[in-house]
Amino acid sequence: MSAVGEKEKLLEVRGLKVDFKVKGGVFSAVKGVDFDIYKGETFGLVGESGSGKTTIGRAIVRINDATAGEIRFKGRVISGKIPKELDREIVQRIQMIFQDPMASLNERAKVDYIVSEGLYNIGRAGDEKERLALVQKALLDVGLLPEFATRFPHEFSGGQRQRIGIARSLIMGPELVVADEPISALDVSIRAQVLNLLAELQRSMGLTYLFIAHDLSVVRFITDRIAVINKGEIVELAETEELFARPLHPYTKALLSAIPVPDPIAQRAKKLQVYDPSVHDYSTRGPTWREASPGHFVLADDAEMERYTK
Ligand SMILES: Nc1ncnc2c1ncn2[C@@H]1O[C@H](COP(=O)(O)OP(=O)(O)OP(=O)(O)O)[C@@H](O)[C@H]1O
Ligand SMILES: [Mg+2]
Repeated sequence: MSAVGEKEKLLEVRGLKVDFKVKGGVFSAVKGVDFDIYKGETFGLVGESGSGKTTIGRAIVRINDATAGEIRFKGRVISGKIPKELDREIVQRIQMIFQDPMASLNERAKVDYIVSEGLYNIGRAGDEKERLALVQKALLDVGLLPEFATRFPHEFSGGQRQRIGIARSLIMGPELVVADEPISALDVSIRAQVLNLLAELQRSMGLTYLFIAHDLSVVRFITDRIAVINKGEIVELAETEELFARPLHPYTKALLSAIPVPDPIAQRAKKLQVYDPSVHDYSTRGPTWREASPGHFVLADDAEMERYTK
């Protein structure tokens, strides 16, 4: 998409830390991350299992408390203690789609209830007729038949269930959708369908996405910008094409080297890079978050920065 310079910031995340109390102490799942999401873009957050992606998503939708730092939505602070009114607005305007459509739907409820549950919670379900009309519209929007409203989740395939999950988010009228690995649990054959649906919905409803994935190849063609996260720290952030063309951080390079190439001979000849954190010499001073070129950020110390910008 276009250059990001003049765009409106929908979400601003500053110095976000999330700690969890665990047996024997505290575990820092997110160690101070900074990023903005612009209105209308698809922002990718990519990293291995356990790197803190879901924790960040859950902090944005206020399921996880921020231990430190701040999250702003349209300029207003939404982390920490906030007025009830704003909380209700956030519930509506920031929605999350979950990874596993088999686990995230209430098996004992009909689709009708599942899709409109969020509306009840914010007192916007209206009367029975209005609510049903909203459910039917949401189902149509995600490519399902309105008649499905009377059925139970177990009657649907994985792809259909994920569509139900998407309908449940859309019915709220969100502006920002946190899509947490929305296709990784699905059959390969239907992943593209769900990605295309998300892209269509973005266009028709003017949505902004935070798209979480553990694999750079998944987000390459659908994101405007990508942040790469490793062990609770964002190590690099750039426009998608820039990140693929000029990766700076060794961790990003390792992730890129893991993407399969279509040519089997080239694939066999390819060398997998393994990320070795000991390549950094942070013994004297730790790395800081720096802008290597306009819009391209990397976690680096002085010496690394000099190499990266040479
Ligand atoms: N409620 C919790 N209590 C304690 N530790 C937690 C809690 N939630 C998450 N963690 C830990 O925080 C770390 C980050 O978890 P998170 O779910 O954010 O990772 P992720 O990047 O989403 O991984 P995945 O790709 O597997 O979904 C993990 O080590 C996880 O075990
Ligand atoms: Mg996760």
